[in-house]
Amino acid sequence: MQALILAGGKGTRLRPLTVYTPKPIVPICNRPFLLYQIDTLRRAAITDITLSLSYQPNKIEQLLGDGSDYGVKLKYTVEPQPMGTAGAYKFAEDLIREPTVVFNGDILTDLDLKAVIREHSEHQATATIVLTPVENPSAYGLVETESDGRIRRFLEKPKADEITCNTINAGTYILEPKVLDLIPAGENHSFEYGLFPELLKRKEAFFAHIPARTYWIDIGTPERYLRVHQDLLGNRVGRIHLKERRGDFDSATAAEVDELSMIGDDCQIKPGAQIINSVLGQGCFVEERARVENSVIWPHTRVGTTAIVSGAVVGRGCHIGRSAVVGHGSVLGDKTSLTDYTITGQAEVQAEAVL
Ligand code: GDD
Ligand code: MG
Repeated sequence: MQALILAGGKGTRLRPLTVYTPKPIVPICNRPFLLYQIDTLRRAAITDITLSLSYQPNKIEQLLGDGSDYGVKLKYTVEPQPMGTAGAYKFAEDLIREPTVVFNGDILTDLDLKAVIREHSEHQATATIVLTPVENPSAYGLVETESDGRIRRFLEKPKADEITCNTINAGTYILEPKVLDLIPAGENHSFEYGLFPELLKRKEAFFAHIPARTYWIDIGTPERYLRVHQDLLGNRVGRIHLKERRGDFDSATAAEVDELSMIGDDCQIKPGAQIINSVLGQGCFVEERARVENSVIWPHTRVGTTAIVSGAVVGRGCHIGRSAVVGHGSVLGDKTSLTDYTITGQAEVQAEAVL
């Protein structure tokens, strides 16, 4: 068994965070996102992993190298332009010799992949797709199944009146290499609109795997990016445990850092500052009486005296001026500089809280 991670999307819904950092390596609790997927594969003893890239491929290759630091063998394919999800798999054809686990490169899950692989071979399936329940399937691929686990229908991004069930495509597949023959070469082609409906039409053995009690999230919007941090900090992701919440940082004795928060190396936290349920990347500087709560701050950002960052995501190398309020829902791109007393996001409530 080998693996292919689809990591070529532009991450438009996660802008401005993805302007300088491609979505597959945005930090999640101070680790590049793809390392969580590599962990999932390694837990299932899969070490032959191809990363299918298109957007800012060099940044990803430079960071992860040949994978030896992470106990896996990484290979890369880089499409000249995005070929679509199935097109990207076809583009990697020369590297594919075995049944392959395919991951959407923006899914964080504590899935037991071994169980999926076992079921795939028991069914002698051509393709197996992992499903997960969600409240509103409209942003995803809705998947209807038969009582024996076969896929009945696949409907990508259904409209409200087309929603017939709550199970969606969780972005994890096991594919037999013979499906490569059904994907046209050199063209943009999609699993969701192309290959999967085609497998159904051909009555191939196409099965669903619905795991019990499994955490699943697509990290591809700022709201969900923040939520996955809250879930990890709150220990709500069954099989993923944060290793070290405290790097090597300087904190005044009169500063408050709660137990949930994760602080990167080389941070400085000044007297009277409060860090609550948040993640600070490496080398952040939080000045006197500033408060950071329920937020994620990327490396080398400075939060000025008595400023408040609440329910926000702040990019790399930002400067939040004195007494500024970065309120709920704010997403600041790298190198943003906020003048003293600026208010962003849902600020009124927060501003009142300062008084
Ligand atoms: N290499 C490559 N080339 N990768 C691509 C391309 C491409 O042309 N297009 C998309 N990808 C990658 C993205 O980087 C992402 O990791 C993954 O494929 C899925 O693309 P998204 O753009 O995030 O799709 P989505 O979230 O709207 O929908 C997909 O994921 C849902 C689960 O989160 C679909 O597969 C849905 O059916 C599914 O429910
Ligand atoms: Mg996605």
